[in-house]
Amino acid sequence: MTLRASLSKLGNRVFWALCLLATPVFAEPAGMEYPMRRVADMFQPLSRPAEMIHEAAVLVSLICFGIFIVVASLLVFIVLKFRRKANDDGREPPQIYGSTNIELAWTVIPILITVVLILVTSRTIGEIQNMKMPEDALKIELVGHQWWWEIRYPGLGIVTANEIHIPVSSRDPDKATPTHLLLQSADVIHSFWVPQLAGKTDLVPNKNNETWLDPYETGVYFGNCAEYCGTQHANMLLRVIVHTPEGFEKWVAAQKAPPAPPQTAEEIKGHKLFYSTSCVSCHMINGTVAEGVFGPDLTKLMTRQTIGAGAVALNDKNLWDWVKDPQDIKVGCLMPDMQLLDTEVDAIVAYLKTLK
Ligand code: CUA
Repeated sequence: MTLRASLSKLGNRVFWALCLLATPVFAEPAGMEYPMRRVADMFQPLSRPAEMIHEAAVLVSLICFGIFIVVASLLVFIVLKFRRKANDDGREPPQIYGSTNIELAWTVIPILITVVLILVTSRTIGEIQNMKMPEDALKIELVGHQWWWEIRYPGLGIVTANEIHIPVSSRDPDKATPTHLLLQSADVIHSFWVPQLAGKTDLVPNKNNETWLDPYETGVYFGNCAEYCGTQHANMLLRVIVHTPEGFEKWVAAQKAPPAPPQTAEEIKGHKLFYSTSCVSCHMINGTVAEGVFGPDLTKLMTRQTIGAGAVALNDKNLWDWVKDPQDIKVGCLMPDMQLLDTEVDAIVAYLKTLK
């Protein structure tokens, strides 16, 4: 990069930092009122399937800890008892072969332990996989892409990306309102994992996998792709926003309301630019000619908490930087540098900010 380009980039950053200081209020993304559950910890389950996995994990860990104690104690005992003595004559001790009893013991006991571990884990996997979903359960189709998540609500006519919004359920199984997830992939194998809510389930091309969520508490839960899927696997992040039932209704209503048409001259210019460049070949904006399906649906872009599938927070500066050159934020992502002039980026960002 030339010095001039570096200076211009630095200038942009300073400019946007100043703009941010001048305009501290940014459109509030949906779900920010709930607690942020950033620690993706499977030992703090807050959902039925995660709790079932937790129980199995604790039992398996206890068995493994027991084995560790036995092996470590024997090791310490032998190291101390058979250490070199002061009067050692240096001769090799007698070699002993073939003790049927000892060989049976160290073969049969591990087999029994392994069978117990297999039974414990396969029972849990089976219980989770075979759980009957109620007829009226909220259905969500989750499609993995390099490197973002497409999220469709077929029953509600909503399409979004990277943030799954669901209503809270109940610890009481009779009052539970689980969410049914159907998992697919558009390219390679990805894996859905939100440790506090559910175990890993792969998204495999040409295969329909399923899992479910049944959260006990509201919050913004952090998850990620758990199967290496290419350059930006680490930036294929996911949030599950668990709403109160009323909060979820409000979110659904807001997602269904069409965004207001562009008003200011800048917004109208950005709108025209968006539709005259190749943005429309990859992105969908409901009710417009933008019907691309390779990239995330932008109809309600401004209601999201992040851009680039969690790569950065969605704010004025990051949105501007992203439109200017996504490769700067998420190297190797499939959205190219569109070679836009700064004034064109200004206009497109102004238009994108009406999508709420
Ligand atoms: Cu998708 Cu890793």
